[in-house]
Amino acid sequence: MANKKMWAGVTSGVTDTVADDFNSSIRFDSRMYKQDIRGSLEHAAMLMRVGILTEGELEEITDGLLGILEDIETGALAIDMTAEDIHMFVEATLTERIGEVGKKLHTARSRNDQVALDLRLYMRDECGEIISLIKELIGSILKIAKVSTDAIMPGYTHLQRAQPITFAHHLLAYCMMLLRDISRMKDASARMNVSPLGSCALAGTTFPIDRGSVAEALGFSGITTNSIDGVSDRDYCIEIGAALSTLMMHLSRLSEEIILWSSWEFKFIELDSAYTTGSSIMPQKRNPDMAELVRGKTGRVYGNLFSTLTMLKGLPLAYNKDMQEDKEAIFDSVDTVKMCLSVFIPMIATMKPIKENMLNAAKRGFINATDLADYLTKRGLPFRSAYKISGTIVRECIERNNTLDELTLDEYKSYSPIFDEDLYEEISLTTCVKKRISEGGTGYESVDKQIAFVEGELSKT
Ligand code: ARG
Repeated sequence: MANKKMWAGVTSGVTDTVADDFNSSIRFDSRMYKQDIRGSLEHAAMLMRVGILTEGELEEITDGLLGILEDIETGALAIDMTAEDIHMFVEATLTERIGEVGKKLHTARSRNDQVALDLRLYMRDECGEIISLIKELIGSILKIAKVSTDAIMPGYTHLQRAQPITFAHHLLAYCMMLLRDISRMKDASARMNVSPLGSCALAGTTFPIDRGSVAEALGFSGITTNSIDGVSDRDYCIEIGAALSTLMMHLSRLSEEIILWSSWEFKFIELDSAYTTGSSIMPQKRNPDMAELVRGKTGRVYGNLFSTLTMLKGLPLAYNKDMQEDKEAIFDSVDTVKMCLSVFIPMIATMKPIKENMLNAAKRGFINATDLADYLTKRGLPFRSAYKISGTIVRECIERNNTLDELTLDEYKSYSPIFDEDLYEEISLTTCVKKRISEGGTGYESVDKQIAFVEGELSKT
């Protein structure tokens, strides 16, 4: 079976159907139909402004394009999955519907700048949606942080209990990461937001086009400065792919903690049953599948970034068909990230911190040992000596299966005469938290400030 193409020129335009199938991108680029039509509408309007189309021709083209848009949207027009790509499909349908004048639309344009335009418009919309979802997720985390400002838990290093912190403080760390993710998305999106349309195939055009007015009408901040770069650049897919990979890495770290926290070993949180699954044979199970899947899907988002980097690395300028591979990769990353965020937002908002278990964990593990050393240091002992004494006391306590607050004052005094009655207050978990007043620390006031900071950032548009 063979098939004749719109671009038949020096070749017969007759290609093998297996080759057609291989070459076609409509399966994945049909999702850009809105952006394709929007770009064509503004391109046509510009062609009229510079005298290439008459008012009547523009009207016909505009009506034709709007009709196609409406019919795709209502389902009256099914996108032909045997078409080469969405650009060819829209143009061919237009010509089918309005006749010869439809063929004028592609004047002073090439599919190379058309696809570059569509992808930028598409990715701009997606970046906006992802930013809104990240904001919602920060909102969910903040909701739990606000009810956990008094929840003392062990902070960890090397997954060993280290120092007392509050659950709110821990959660706020993720808010900071996610705020940076938003900022990365905004940066990438702003750099992407210039119009490549008018670069044409690669060298520009002899027609008197007005690139700036089309760019403005499409909401771009300007136009690409070099036409060869305009059709060859996919940096924005890399930048957004990298920003999405970083975001997924953050979600994956949080997933890992949620998985640990919801285990019987920790039981610091309970996930709502809407976001856990049971086992087919073990009736007691509440598996954190959603968090595990987010952790698992992180790999494919990294993979997509790597495919795109690798795809581009050997390409001579300007357009090469290899570049068609950009879309599946970045679309998959966008879809994956949106799905992960959508399930994380309600999962986090409904999770229940179990403060009692956090506190019980904080009581074991000598996480106030630093504060014991600080006690001596504040009373004149050099820190290294204080550290050594505290270490000896901890070792002794481990042997006797005691906690630091269970030793008597006399026992303390046998290690150092500096110890006094006030040491118990000083090493109580609440004091350990309360006194960490340094900026960014776990102290209550510091955490309140961090909450206010995140709220302030969220309220900025
Ligand atoms: N479907 C193509 C892509 O996604 C559109 C550009 C085709 N240009 C060309 N010269 N064959 O890259």
